[in-house]
Amino acid sequence: MIKRPIHLSHDFLAEILDKEAVAVDATMGNGNDTLFLTQRAKLVHAFDVQEQALEKTSQRLAEAGLDNAQLHLIGHEHLDEFVKEPIRAAIFNLGYLPSADKSIITQPATTLVAIEKILERLEVGGRISIMIYYGHEGGDMEKDAVLEFIKKLPQDNFATMLYQPLNQINTPPFLIMVEKLTKEN
Ligand SMILES: C[S@@+](CC[C@H](N)C(=O)[O-])C[C@H]1O[C@@H](n2cnc3c(N)ncnc32)[C@H](O)[C@@H]1O
Repeated sequence: MIKRPIHLSHDFLAEILDKEAVAVDATMGNGNDTLFLTQRAKLVHAFDVQEQALEKTSQRLAEAGLDNAQLHLIGHEHLDEFVKEPIRAAIFNLGYLPSADKSIITQPATTLVAIEKILERLEVGGRISIMIYYGHEGGDMEKDAVLEFIKKLPQDNFATMLYQPLNQINTPPFLIMVEKLTKEN
């Protein structure tokens, strides 16, 4: 079956992850991405603003017997206070957490700060997967802000790709992929 954006978001990062890598989950939620990264990287920094996300994720990591993730109850826009190592891979799942308070959504301004901070710290060859959900109120603005920002990245320094369903009704999520090509940015 054709690969869905959410699956490609993982495959894109799996190609470059190994047990020397430091990775960031910028939007922890229920911990699906944190679990995926933690199984493949040396160390994972995961961020969320909801206590529920930390509880759920730490429970899932414990069940899997993994102890190489640091879970931070703070917005991803503050990631530079915690992530001191070069970053190999990062993932964003924007929007709200379906099982929690749907009014707590990622916001364009802070999302862009976090993307910028990750790009600065990304290793050459490092990658970011950004899943865009935009069916909720405010989602459209965030989608446009992120697309606008990514489109302006210098092509000599970054390769960027979009993976999006073309014939699906409503507002199907899509994936933006970024790879850092050179040190200068
Ligand atoms: C679509 S959900 C993430 C789903 C998650 N990746 C998973 O595997 O379940 C978006 C998450 O972003 C979180 N969030 C909102 N603003 C944030 C911020 N400034 N920094 C980090 N996380 C934030 C929300 O609390 C929510 O849990």
